[in-house]
Amino acid sequence: MATDFTLNIPDTLRALVIGDPIGQSLSPVIHTHWMEACDIHGQYGKLAVNSDELQAFVTASRTAGLVGYNVTVPHKTAILPFLDKVAPLARQMGAVNTVKVGPDGGLTGFNTDAIGLITHLKKSAPAYPKDKPALVIGAGGAARAAVMGLLGEQVPFVMLVNRTRAKADVIAAELGRDRIAVADWQDRNDCVSAAGVIINTTTLGMTGFPDLDLDLASAGKDTVVYDIVYKPLETALLRAAKSRGLQTVDGLGMLVYQAAAAFKIWFGEEVAFDPELRTKLEGQLL
Ligand code: ATR
Repeated sequence: MATDFTLNIPDTLRALVIGDPIGQSLSPVIHTHWMEACDIHGQYGKLAVNSDELQAFVTASRTAGLVGYNVTVPHKTAILPFLDKVAPLARQMGAVNTVKVGPDGGLTGFNTDAIGLITHLKKSAPAYPKDKPALVIGAGGAARAAVMGLLGEQVPFVMLVNRTRAKADVIAAELGRDRIAVADWQDRNDCVSAAGVIINTTTLGMTGFPDLDLDLASAGKDTVVYDIVYKPLETALLRAAKSRGLQTVDGLGMLVYQAAAAFKIWFGEEVAFDPELRTKLEGQLL
């Protein structure tokens, strides 16, 4: 049900993130850091928009003087019908995390999650074994981003495992049945030995959730273990991987690089995950 929505935003607001809840979002820290570094005037804000308000927000956003906005849970899929154009990758993923507002108020949706995840993997572990299949755990939006990103990198195939197998089967059917091998949740440990990269995209390991129970004993020496959870930064999975001498990648980079791709779409500037930004973000996670 659509409701009336008055978008009271200051003239100085250039971009923002919408979601529900939104209080925990780190996007303002990231984009504000880069706007300052690039000498871009104005602010990046955050706004709680509930599902009933989404359509009215989108309409109001056309004339609010914004360059664009980020979209987070629970609106990434629901926003698609309200946009004028959706980039092919976002269309394929069925989810938008970045909207660009054109000078005429036209709205284009993008998804920068897959590029964010892969950029972070390549920067953190440039020599990751690309010639081996990858193991992705989970079947939510982040799993879709991981699968799309890895298939784009030409890994031979992706092994996909989710507690609820049917959701993994849907991803395989939609994103490439011939290059996605779905395995049962109880067989996940059997996938470890073949995997060049292992990516946890579930909420397991996050503060307040149980740890992901994955036995890394059979992992190859060159296997890279990537956890998209960033709170805590070092999950039990990453600790277990480190104790076996495996290379690990934490979840903060995905957040930052998906933001970098959005920043490029809005402002045309290439930005980096500089140490100062990492310090600011780690300070927020304490
Ligand atoms: P997002 O879209 O942010 O990736 P999501 O759609 O909420 O997140 O997906 C959460 C993932 O964590 C799912 O793969 C979920 O598994 P189910 O599809 O079976 O629900 C997984 N997950 C959450 N709690 C879990 C648990 N206790 N054991 C196993 N998997 C779990």
